[in-house]
Amino acid sequence: MLIPPLPYNLRPMLLSDVDAVMAIDRQAFPTPTKDTVLRYELSQNELAHYQVLSIAETIIGYAGYWLLADECHISTIATDSHWRRRGLGELLLLNMLFLANGQAAQLATLEVRESNLAAQALYQKYEFAIVGERRRYYKDTGEDALIMTTGALDGRYYQFLQQQQTALFARLQNED
Ligand SMILES: CC(C)(COP(=O)(O)OP(=O)(O)OC[C@H]1O[C@@H](n2cnc3c(N)ncnc32)[C@H](O)[C@@H]1OP(=O)(O)O)[C@@H](O)C(=O)NCCC(=O)NCCS
Repeated sequence: MLIPPLPYNLRPMLLSDVDAVMAIDRQAFPTPTKDTVLRYELSQNELAHYQVLSIAETIIGYAGYWLLADECHISTIATDSHWRRRGLGELLLLNMLFLANGQAAQLATLEVRESNLAAQALYQKYEFAIVGERRRYYKDTGEDALIMTTGALDGRYYQFLQQQQTALFARLQNED
């Protein structure tokens, strides 16, 4: 797990975080996650790995992935709308990629709404490329999902992550 510059803190999500996480989730997604689903993920799903980003006790972002064999499937990521465009979504993504790399994942993959250009830009910054689509994947709007995947999480990619970390931490340290 990454140790980001103060005042930010990353740690595994706990059941006691669910209410705060759901508050961000409701702002972030057209159809919010059901809190029962999140509770199941945290307490029953051994493949699930969820993290929160906080300042002191206040949660300002969260992210999760499933480790499916040697694949890191990113299931969710969101930052509080008041805290966007500061590198914090990137911090959450970078943290997951390092964690998955440490668990011997060979690639990372995810689905993203076709209209979600902000998230796609974030993923492209981490070398995710569009490899396919799932037609009408999102039941709420009938929107298609793009499938985005990294290349191999190999030594070169790990070095790339380290470079990204250096740049991101410098950015976070230089904020007001
Ligand atoms: C996607 C999301 C997590 C990004 O979080 P964030 O904290 O604003 O992201 P960051 O500030 O770390 O941005 C990192 C990179 O993402 C891209 N990016 C983020 N927001 C962007 C936007 N609105 N427009 C264009 N690019 C954007 C940029 O490449 C940015 O790099 P830069 O800072 O060097 O320009 C956030 O917008 C969010 O919570 N959205 C709602 C939930 C969601 O859509 N999750 C993804 C589901 S697949």
